Amino acid sequence: MKYHDEITHRRTFAIISHPDAGKTTLTEKFLLFGGAIQVAGAVKSNKIKKSATSDFMEIERQRGISVATSVMSFEYQDILINLLDTPGHKDFAEDTFRTLTAVDSVILVVDSVNGVEEQTRRLMEVCRMRDTPVIVFINKMDRDGKNRFDLLEEIEKELNISLHPMTWPINSGKDFKGVYNLSDKNLRLFAANTKADEEDTLNITDINDPVLETRLGTQDAATLREDVELVDGVNGALNVADYLAAKVSPVFFGSAINNFGVKEMLDTFIRIAPVPLSRETTQRKVDVEEEKLSGFIFKIHANLDPKHRDRIAFFRVCSGRFERNKYYHHVRLDKEVRFSNPYSFMARDKSIIQDAYAGDVVGLFDTGNFKIGDTLTEGEDFYFTGIPSFSPEIFKEVINKDPLKTKQLEKGLLQLTDEGVAQLFTQFGGTKKIIGCVGELQFEVIQYRLLHEYGASVEFRALPFYKACWLTSKDPKKLEEFTKFKLANSGEDKDGNVVYLAQSEWFLNTEITNNPDIEFHYSSEIHKQD
Ligand code: G4P
Repeated sequence: MKYHDEITHRRTFAIISHPDAGKTTLTEKFLLFGGAIQVAGAVKSNKIKKSATSDFMEIERQRGISVATSVMSFEYQDILINLLDTPGHKDFAEDTFRTLTAVDSVILVVDSVNGVEEQTRRLMEVCRMRDTPVIVFINKMDRDGKNRFDLLEEIEKELNISLHPMTWPINSGKDFKGVYNLSDKNLRLFAANTKADEEDTLNITDINDPVLETRLGTQDAATLREDVELVDGVNGALNVADYLAAKVSPVFFGSAINNFGVKEMLDTFIRIAPVPLSRETTQRKVDVEEEKLSGFIFKIHANLDPKHRDRIAFFRVCSGRFERNKYYHHVRLDKEVRFSNPYSFMARDKSIIQDAYAGDVVGLFDTGNFKIGDTLTEGEDFYFTGIPSFSPEIFKEVINKDPLKTKQLEKGLLQLTDEGVAQLFTQFGGTKKIIGCVGELQFEVIQYRLLHEYGASVEFRALPFYKACWLTSKDPKKLEEFTKFKLANSGEDKDGNVVYLAQSEWFLNTEITNNPDIEFHYSSEIHKQD
């Protein structure tokens, strides 16, 4: 129980959204509340601009800036909040998925005009896989959005979650008048660019109070009463245990840019969001209150700028206390390592830290010793489970243009895939190396880095695959027969797991139907429980 107070003092979470829904704006408002920044606009540089989609060096430059904002720590109401940033650019979706393994909860921002979008769907899949508690913020209520009931139904259906409205909006767009807080039973009237403490709050003990007519008008007062009766009838009070078990998601309506409805959500977040929890490993469950240090690497950021060739590995502390200059056990390399310059992050500044506790994220300077999923302990051998690797969406064969550099190429491919830039498969029945990525941009990054960092010159040849599935079977013979028969479509990943590369959904479904003894998995875990 030595570190009990440190642990319960922390909340580690991420804000996720489809690009443009308002993640950056909301992040900024949180930082303003936490006093971590003083002026609006300070976080904007963190965002990868849309215009840069074809220029990866520009994106890398912007990502370089974003290293400092990868983890934003600030205090709010005596709670230390670690907000982990996730890249908005869809080509970096894998980064986001992995970051989700390092948080204890999530705030999902949905644009009230666009509703559920592609990225929202995929991000929520990861949250559901891990039973991550989610709070939903429906943003941009100052714009003419979808009907509130339709929107909630769409979110519930599309994301397969159960919602619990905490506030209820009065209209949207230019008629947006504010939100009614269903638990505190007060009304907050909307004004553009509100400073939280100046928000116009009307305390009413009875929804039938005639003051509603005065402030909202007869029609809107009547609609609000009907809505509230309906919602309250279905809802009742929020069951926090259900939220923590990821069975229900509280929902807030607001407008991030106008700082409206943000503080309300942050206050609830502080009250209900989970503290760092115990985590499963390949050997046993690690209790978050154990005194010995344990944690894992969930992200590696390599800087492409030749002037700053640093690589930062992001380490999530899961138990114990991380100390500067102390030796820890690097499980995979079976080696003792220590860090003289571990970083913590505070808004845009990086600073060297002396110690860190469960829930914290430490930036470790790395010269190539780490790969995603690596564990540090005080001697014990285990890996944290539940760090998924998803199927890439674009597959290309690596063509070596300079046979004299084959060794360098192999080393480069291994290191880059350790960083999680891409996945590497080797086709059975040959030595064909296949790179799989989520976005086209990664191929440019890989080609550039192989040449500049390893001296290896490559080209890529597009392959007609659309998905990789990891195969398992209780009967190893069946698996062997299948891969023999499907040589062109099967291979192994870097860890020797058998993979089927499907040309289309139709092929995949046909194989699933024809091979009932084989299990097809859409994701693989980096470390599985023994
Ligand atoms: P992201 O990080 O999720 O990609 O979104 P971001 O916060 O950058 O917001 C995307 C756009 O939506 C921005 O406008 C932002 O100002 C706007 N926005 C955020 N919250 C609200 C809101 O509550 N209401 C309205 N009407 N707009 C909102 P932009 O024009 O793309 O950028 P900027 O020129 O404002 O920086």
